[in-house]
Amino acid sequence: MEVIRVTGGARLRGDVTVVGAKNSALKLMAAALLAEGRTVLHNMPRITDIVIMAEVLRRIGCAVDVTDDRVEIDTPAELGGEADYDLVRRLRASINVLGPLLARRGYAKVAHPGGDAIGSRGLDMHIAGLQRMGAEITNEHGYVVAHAERLQGATIWLDFPSVGATENILMAAVLAEGTTVIDNAAREPEIVDICQMLTAMGARINGAGTSTLEIEGTDRLRPVTHRVIGDRIIAGTWAFGAAMTRGDVTVHGVNPEHLAVTLDKLTTAGADVTRYESGFRVRCERRPQAVDMVTLPYPGLATDLLPMAVGFAAVADGVSLITENVFDGRFMFVNEMSRLGADIRTDGHHAVVRGKEQLSGAPVTATDIRAGAGLVLAGLCAEGVTEVSHIHHIDRGYPDFVTQLADLGAKVERVRVPDDSFSL
Ligand code: UD1
Repeated sequence: MEVIRVTGGARLRGDVTVVGAKNSALKLMAAALLAEGRTVLHNMPRITDIVIMAEVLRRIGCAVDVTDDRVEIDTPAELGGEADYDLVRRLRASINVLGPLLARRGYAKVAHPGGDAIGSRGLDMHIAGLQRMGAEITNEHGYVVAHAERLQGATIWLDFPSVGATENILMAAVLAEGTTVIDNAAREPEIVDICQMLTAMGARINGAGTSTLEIEGTDRLRPVTHRVIGDRIIAGTWAFGAAMTRGDVTVHGVNPEHLAVTLDKLTTAGADVTRYESGFRVRCERRPQAVDMVTLPYPGLATDLLPMAVGFAAVADGVSLITENVFDGRFMFVNEMSRLGADIRTDGHHAVVRGKEQLSGAPVTATDIRAGAGLVLAGLCAEGVTEVSHIHHIDRGYPDFVTQLADLGAKVERVRVPDDSFSL
């Protein structure tokens, strides 16, 4: 098995460019199902999730070609309707084919992804929204099975601004009959990206980026060429990394507005932040000050940056209160970060973090994508060597993470070590 071996002490310095956002790219691939013909997506991240999503689409009947940062999808007139558990369990975002398939084909059978390492992750809002539009939905042997002659526009109030539910309902509504209103919709930049692509395809959408999306259904959409927005979570990871290591990093390829809260928090903590049109610079000469942080749906601090926020607090000067409001299992990684000497106490969805001047290198295990990146950053602030295992998680969200870290001056490498799996 491979691990990431980090030797602490380096300050991150230099320039780094982020790729297209995974959380947008995967959904844009699902959106390609809505129009017969060839969709071309640029600036796609080179990660396994894209390869798995390509396989999901192939099984539905598309021809998909993934080359470098470009993905071409040929969507046929007649689609299959099923996404199997063997793929969905590897890629939760496969659930995003539910809305487009139901809209195009009137039938979809998609494996229920279940919970995962960051929490229980329900589908009730996806299902209730589509039912409100006239779909008949049952849960059969671990699959969500949906039927609808023609979806009808409806007014849908989401209990929580769920990103996935907003996307599924949105992608169903663009081909429904009549007008759909999604109230308390998610406002994430990735939703705006999807809305822009759907609009170019001929969809009629008002309110992208606000809490109320109004979608006037149409009979037919056309395929387009689209460029994915920059990944704000990777960019935010670099921002925290620069500040934690008292470094100086300029990040390119992302709209700094998409990280407004993160950059503001880092400024409060004592970092020097400069915003550019398509990037930003974070410089921190001294040890950062502790600062309280709260994750919330966009425009709040992204829950995907929680492990970086906790890692940052673990080396900041003072005590930080970090609150997680989106996923019930997001603090799973805390035990691993504590192995590096971080002083973290959790109680429900709060963590009290008492910052230390330096952490202490140790072997740790990545529990999910973002936790893995957070542990690597913590390793940069630890005396001695930290080995992060289960790095397939990190590879899912951070293409070329180790190379980019090394380019910024970190002492880091991927190393093969004997497999640690065993059975009792
Ligand atoms: C997406 C992102 C993920 C990010 C999250 C929140 C992708 C592939 N993943 O996940 O990286 O952390 O948004 O920004 O884009 N919920 C329900 N019922 C539902 C739907 C959601 O209870 O029907 C709950 C979830 O369990 C969770 C919360 O709502 O507690 C937010 O989930 P949601 O916004 O839907 O996240 P995802 O779309 O799964």
